[in-house]
Amino acid sequence: MCGIVAYIGSKDAAPILLEGLQRLEYRGYDSAGVAVAGRSGALRLRKVKGRVADLAEALPARFKGTAGVGHTRWATHGEPNDANAHPHLDGTGRIAVVHNGIIENADLLRDRLAADGAVFASETDSEVLAHLIAAHTGEGTDLEDAVRRALKHIVGTYGIAVLDAARPDRIVVARNGSPIVLGIGEKEMFAASDVAALVRYTRQVVHLDDGELATVRADGFRTFTEDARTTAKQPSTVDWEVGSYDTGSHRHHLIKEIHEQPDAVERTLRGRLDDRFHTAHLGGLNLDARELRAIRRVKILGCGSAYYAGEMGAQLIEELARVPAHAEPASEFRYRNPVIEADTLYVAVSQSGETYDTLAAVQEIRRKGGRVLGVVNTVGSAIARECDGGIYLHAGPEISVASTKAFTSTVVAFALLALHFGRVHDLSPADGRRICAGLKALPGQIREILAREERIAGLAAEYAKHEGMMFIGRVRGWPVAREGAQKLKEVSYVHAEAYPASELKHGPLALISPELPTVAVVPDDELLDKNLTTLGEIRARSGRVLAVGHRAPDPRHADHAVVVPRNEPELDPLLLGIPLQLLAYHAAVALGRDVDKPRNLAKSVTVE
Ligand code: AGP
Repeated sequence: MCGIVAYIGSKDAAPILLEGLQRLEYRGYDSAGVAVAGRSGALRLRKVKGRVADLAEALPARFKGTAGVGHTRWATHGEPNDANAHPHLDGTGRIAVVHNGIIENADLLRDRLAADGAVFASETDSEVLAHLIAAHTGEGTDLEDAVRRALKHIVGTYGIAVLDAARPDRIVVARNGSPIVLGIGEKEMFAASDVAALVRYTRQVVHLDDGELATVRADGFRTFTEDARTTAKQPSTVDWEVGSYDTGSHRHHLIKEIHEQPDAVERTLRGRLDDRFHTAHLGGLNLDARELRAIRRVKILGCGSAYYAGEMGAQLIEELARVPAHAEPASEFRYRNPVIEADTLYVAVSQSGETYDTLAAVQEIRRKGGRVLGVVNTVGSAIARECDGGIYLHAGPEISVASTKAFTSTVVAFALLALHFGRVHDLSPADGRRICAGLKALPGQIREILAREERIAGLAAEYAKHEGMMFIGRVRGWPVAREGAQKLKEVSYVHAEAYPASELKHGPLALISPELPTVAVVPDDELLDKNLTTLGEIRARSGRVLAVGHRAPDPRHADHAVVVPRNEPELDPLLLGIPLQLLAYHAAVALGRDVDKPRNLAKSVTVE
């Protein structure tokens, strides 16, 4: 979704802004723009519908300025076109604003500003910010005061960066529900909505909190609240190298991230397994053993793949801790006036830590006095900050829109939580040892599966010829099937429907034909016979079957099979999902899709 970059220093701002915007392309966008201000006090603006490369081409040779703001827009109010692209200017062309988020009272503000003579150049909600700030900018008023006062009229969410041609020695940024991070350089400063835009220039960053603003100058910054009280911030160091954001030797981010999974899982596990008591150490939970024992239920919330990872997490918690656990889409939960219970542990799952529906669910639970843990990848993100405690994944930056390594690391984090929870309850030391050993074996076993990529690529090319596919699984295999179907549809656009294998007879069996192949998740567990019966029913109706399991079924049950190594039954779902990621990736490549940026999707869904 939308991205913000800002720069102030002694260098030419435009190339730095363009480079930053390119680093934000992965989030998904439809138009891009930049505004720069020079010491002469003139503001230069260019914005276009299309890619950052189109914007770079559209920039005139004379586009100089040492302070500037840039934006990638993902349309919400008004179609993607040049006029609706950011930055937006006030009527005099003095104030330039880039905005992420949604201004809920934009229509009201627009009417008021128009009545006072403002002429609007776009259909966006964001443009009201430029006019509103200009309306508060009088003789002797600081830009920061004008922004602060203007923001008091805003209902909604924002991350903004504001440039004033009359004050090109500063940029003012503000955050409320949409992230803003400052980057500290040598006699230069940066700001962005995502650290990915900054890592090329600096690893020293400062995350703003909701309701906080900052004045950024070449030689430093000052943060303050909406009431003009100065706040104290400690810079932190970003762990990741600039190379973590590139495709390296791979063709796409997606396949790079699929191959990074063994390392990502190692990082999620690092320092967290306790071989003495056969449990897990999770320092960030902020829950002692007595508090954990008092928990009667676990409710897991997330969207899309994060929700499916939560479903796997719920199974792990029920199996290892014998505490009832259930996952629900955060986007549904937040709208149904949920009952919040004191003895329920709520867990919010998010790779980005920015997904608006998940954040809103966390806020609703906390408002009602519930306790929420975050299972989050992005350090310092909104969801991580809003929670009472949690587990960071340390999976590394995930750039491809389709989640793979964060998904797998999330399930590993749930396995650690379930192990810890289980050992506080009745999970025996022997079972604890078994799960610890299983977790340690995962990275090597994922490598073994990745070594079978060529065969899976061949199968993907063949199966991708079909217009649709059915994915089935039973109990532990069911969320694996759901996530497999999600991956296939989002990157290849092949229709994929997931069903519990046990439900097939209750309706979807009617769809089975040679044109609709089935991908079946069939681990060698106590349900294998039941699964084989289902596969026999599909084959008897001329349905083609690709089975993913621990051994190849005979031809009565499947046309093709992908075999994965065995782990402990509770952890097997983690491995069964890896071939399905490769299947989706290679199907998308075979069909010539835009693998890392599938149509209509964005990496972080920061709007409702
Ligand atoms: C994953 O492949 C999807 N792109 C999507 O479902 C994603 O998992 C979802 O939007 C949640 O994102 P989050 O983990 O950043 O909160």
